Amino acid sequence: MAHVSDQIAEDILGYLQSHETKSLLRFITCGSVDDGKSTLIGRLLYESKMIFEDQLAALEADSKRVGTQGQEIDFALLVDGLAAEREQGITIDVAYRFFSTDRRKFIVADTPGHEQYTRNMATGASTADVAILMIDARKGILTQTRRHSFIVSLLGIRHVVLAINKLDLVDYDRAVYDEIVEAYGEFAEPLNFASVTPIPMSALRGDNITDKSGKTPWYNGPTLMAYLETVEVADGAEDRPFRMPVQWVNRPDLDFRGFSGMIAGGTIRPGDAIKSLPSSKESTVRSIATFNGELDRAVAGQSVTITLNDEIDISRGDVLCAADDPAPAADQFQAHILWMNEQEMLPGRTYLMKIGATTAQATVAAPKYAIDVNTMEHLAAKTLELNGIGVCNLNLDRTIAFDPYTENRDMGGFILIDRLSNETVGVGMIDFALRRASNIHRQALVVDKDARAELKGQKPVMLWFTGLSGSGKSTIANALEQKLLAMGRHTTILDGDNVRHGLNKDLGFTDADRVENIRRVSEVGKLMVEAGLITLVSFISPFRSERRMARQMLEDDEFVEVHVDTPLEVAEERDVKGLYKKARKGEIKNFTGIDSPYEAPLEPEIRLATTDMTPDEAADQLLAFLREKGYLA
Ligand code: ADX
Repeated sequence: MAHVSDQIAEDILGYLQSHETKSLLRFITCGSVDDGKSTLIGRLLYESKMIFEDQLAALEADSKRVGTQGQEIDFALLVDGLAAEREQGITIDVAYRFFSTDRRKFIVADTPGHEQYTRNMATGASTADVAILMIDARKGILTQTRRHSFIVSLLGIRHVVLAINKLDLVDYDRAVYDEIVEAYGEFAEPLNFASVTPIPMSALRGDNITDKSGKTPWYNGPTLMAYLETVEVADGAEDRPFRMPVQWVNRPDLDFRGFSGMIAGGTIRPGDAIKSLPSSKESTVRSIATFNGELDRAVAGQSVTITLNDEIDISRGDVLCAADDPAPAADQFQAHILWMNEQEMLPGRTYLMKIGATTAQATVAAPKYAIDVNTMEHLAAKTLELNGIGVCNLNLDRTIAFDPYTENRDMGGFILIDRLSNETVGVGMIDFALRRASNIHRQALVVDKDARAELKGQKPVMLWFTGLSGSGKSTIANALEQKLLAMGRHTTILDGDNVRHGLNKDLGFTDADRVENIRRVSEVGKLMVEAGLITLVSFISPFRSERRMARQMLEDDEFVEVHVDTPLEVAEERDVKGLYKKARKGEIKNFTGIDSPYEAPLEPEIRLATTDMTPDEAADQLLAFLREKGYLA
């Protein structure tokens, strides 16, 4: 690293010290290679001299050999060269590059610009303070500029640089520049950026990157580097109300109990009153510890361990807040969601929601609307596909503390995770809490499940039959119910075909509709169990995730999963309703086992191999199970 190498040689401690205390700016570049993005990043790295000497020599040689710039250095080769490096291992879709100048350190997130890469851009944007939007002066504002601006604003970036590039190709014409600035100003107004800074430049020729260009005497603003070195991005984070999600409770010995985490907003001092959410317990700060000793003041962005003057119960995931200005707490929200998974969002399915230091289970409702990322128009939508953005309500299994994303990105941003695959499937931004549920209280009932069951002399249970269409679920459930009835037991059956004639008559067979189908039936089934009944549920229920949801709605011993395990060939051979034939001919779409998946249970309580037994024998096996486990005692 050429220009700092002298200081490193002479005064390494001084160098490290100055490096430590420099502030860090994170920014993202939006645009495609065609706009000159790689050239720009390459030039920033080069001009900050944060390129190793050997890389530099290679760059000069490569530029002459394969570059597109004659005898001059082709900076795009530098960035593309680094990209090739990372492609050797696992593919990371966002490349983070680090460089520094005397005044600041920088991390730049470099993401592909095409529409299908919206999710990568969102990943890079979620931690950035500034976005550089690349504009080719010859082309002006494009659809992609609008898309990038929208995503950037959605993810809470407040400062935008309009990098009007390739000015050399329009003869440094001021009129071209002015026109683009004006057009963008009009477009971006509703996005409410704190600042939009247009800079005329040629990344290739180095105009207005680090040195003011003689070719644009009409431009009085900063160079790009000067802007990046001085832009104020704190946005008053230290003045906001104090927030700290507790990452872990630090208890090395009985005398010390500290709460560790990164401050997500505001300022804290010993003596300050805090409130822990969601419990609402209060105390005051005794000390603020860090690696480097105790502090009398800590601010947003710092990682600290806080001790309190009272022993109050606080655990990982709770949020310490300013007592006089605590975060709201709720279990239902409206949020913007950006979907990142190949499999579409399934309204009704429960996902894991990670927010701050806590994880909750969240059910996402069907979108109120989706947003066309190119035009910002609202569209009707039943789900969100990969890279889709929409506004949805979420329902959590518990109350969490939060702030709207626009007020605090750390307190209002979350990710959604698939519970079975553990993949991140979406990112979200909380808009506001929904107050509806908070005004509905649970009515305490005097007669309960146990009382109802006792009267019937049985232990209520849900027998959940899952299997392919035509596997024999309903036939076996029927046979079992007759036997139970003959024994004087109180039962009921929820059967897919029948429930789909009434309660669920609005649902079809898309993945999303099946999820909703099972969600409703689980709820109804639960009511039946609460009525004290032996409840037989017979649905294909093809997804593990929803069967697990049904299981979790009940007590441990109230849910018995019965896999009616009939191979596809056998079910198709029987084809009692003639549906397989139609599905094979393409007359029925999304048919389970043909062009819609069936996820067999991994650990069902009971597996019925129907090829080797009659329905009557299967029913007897179930009856024996119920007897043995004490359900009929
Ligand atoms: S589930 O997948 O949502 O659980 P459910 O059990 O309610 O399905 O309904 C399945 C019944 O609907 C089948 O037994 C069959 O009679 C009928 N059916 C009609 N179309 C389809 C289809 N595309 N896939 C599966 N079953 C279908």
